[in-house]
Amino acid sequence: MYGSILVLDFGSQYTQLIARRIRELQVYSLIKPYNISISEIKKINPKGIILSGGPASVYEKQAPFCDRKVFQLGIPILGICYGLQTIVHILEGKVKKSVRQEYGRALMYIDDHHDLFFTLPAAINVWMSHADYTVKLPPGFVSMAHTRNAEYAAVASRDKKIWGVQFHPEVIHTEFGTQIISNFLFRICGCFANWELSSFVDEAISKIRKQVRDKKVIGGLSGGVDSSTLALLLQKAIGRRFKGIFVNNGLLRKGEASYVVKVFRRSFKIDLKYIDARREFLRELRDITDPEEKRKIIGHKFIEVFEKEAKKVKGVEFLAQGTLYPDVIESISFSGAPSVRIKSHHNVGGLPLNMKLKLVEPFRELFKDEVRKVAKILGLPDALVYRHPFPGPGLGVRIVGEITPRRLRILREADAIIEKVIKKEGIYRKIWQAFAVLLPLKSVGVMGDRRTYEYVIALRAVESQDGMTADWVKLSPQVLAEISARIINEVEGVNRVVYDISSKPPSTIEWE
Ligand code: XMP
Repeated sequence: MYGSILVLDFGSQYTQLIARRIRELQVYSLIKPYNISISEIKKINPKGIILSGGPASVYEKQAPFCDRKVFQLGIPILGICYGLQTIVHILEGKVKKSVRQEYGRALMYIDDHHDLFFTLPAAINVWMSHADYTVKLPPGFVSMAHTRNAEYAAVASRDKKIWGVQFHPEVIHTEFGTQIISNFLFRICGCFANWELSSFVDEAISKIRKQVRDKKVIGGLSGGVDSSTLALLLQKAIGRRFKGIFVNNGLLRKGEASYVVKVFRRSFKIDLKYIDARREFLRELRDITDPEEKRKIIGHKFIEVFEKEAKKVKGVEFLAQGTLYPDVIESISFSGAPSVRIKSHHNVGGLPLNMKLKLVEPFRELFKDEVRKVAKILGLPDALVYRHPFPGPGLGVRIVGEITPRRLRILREADAIIEKVIKKEGIYRKIWQAFAVLLPLKSVGVMGDRRTYEYVIALRAVESQDGMTADWVKLSPQVLAEISARIINEVEGVNRVVYDISSKPPSTIEWE
């Protein structure tokens, strides 16, 4: 179908970034574990293979290696960082452990401008992140570039169709990184730029029709971009045989429920069932202050309500889920350490339902930013396409301590003011998330001649690429002043606003 690039994952934090860069160049890419079998690779029949970086050293006992027959397939290969070291090690060159790690920018001098570095300047800044380096090339390899610390910053064996770079072309800190990847795809592998999301949409629609035939599909809608796009795609594929369910859990933002219901019912003619479960959720959350307990209660309750409503719809055989590619990729971990649960996430797109429904998961091969592009193609309004992420447990994890109707009302009003000001200033799309958090503290203030004793609102605004790391936004004093003044003047019950100036890590984006 598409000429694809196969990325073999050796556990680098940048593996997904490699795949995304390739797709941005309109070439389909997929990620598989480093130890995938040769027969599976042949089945995929990629136009090129990229060996990712990874945290290991080739001399470690447990060092991960791909099957050496990968190098005999005649498919062009590019090794990145640990990927390069694997090539050198397996093909009998020599890799050495460095005493000090090279981490950060390095000036690289290009000595060979053929193929991989075609049209690049004589020297570029590249991003290094490694401890080992090549000291002896395998037979048949030549050096293509060097830095002050690395004699072999890039190498190639054109006979064997193997290239390798010590640096990371996929990260933005590497100048001309995209050009290097593009040279690999188009000059070396002979790929065509034909991975387009509009053709993805057409294909996804015909796949859904084939899978579902004349049956009904049910799916949860939250107003988030994934579930909204999913609903639109299903509506396009099977019309009103798609049954959407929107659960109002009482923890939504101001005006959100009515807006979502209006958009999907009126503009998109989706058969949407609106369930008002506000009371049920709030009843179960009464007196609960522990963040994890809150998350669990909200998650379980959601499933319970959803299942109950779903069962009422006759003749449903399928459940639509907004599973994304990062959820599908088998994760590689060599550290051996069990990962610690920081927060239990609840997602409307990912319901662990025990309803014996077959799954429809059209986004299994997409990254989040690609879903946004699909949303645009399907005509989702910008207000929903570019909406800041909102956690499944909603405002429930933005009220520190107990959730009460009054606290919810206060938080909703404060949050709406923040959104309005940020939008008016034209900075909404530059920010990953901006929202209010209600602190269960009261502090003394003065209004007119009166003493007040009211709640504190914390303003949280962060920049981020993917929510994994984040930095607080350096909002201008004027914007901060306007938000603070408006919240204190307009929201009854608040007499103090503070600004959260912590990054993630060590803090998290949400407070609970
Ligand atoms: P944290 O607070 O872990 O949040 O730094 C990272 C990103 O994830 C969002 N978030 C959630 N999203 N269900 C979701 O769908 C959840 O339970 C959930 N908890 C946090 C958060 O808003 C941020 O964008």
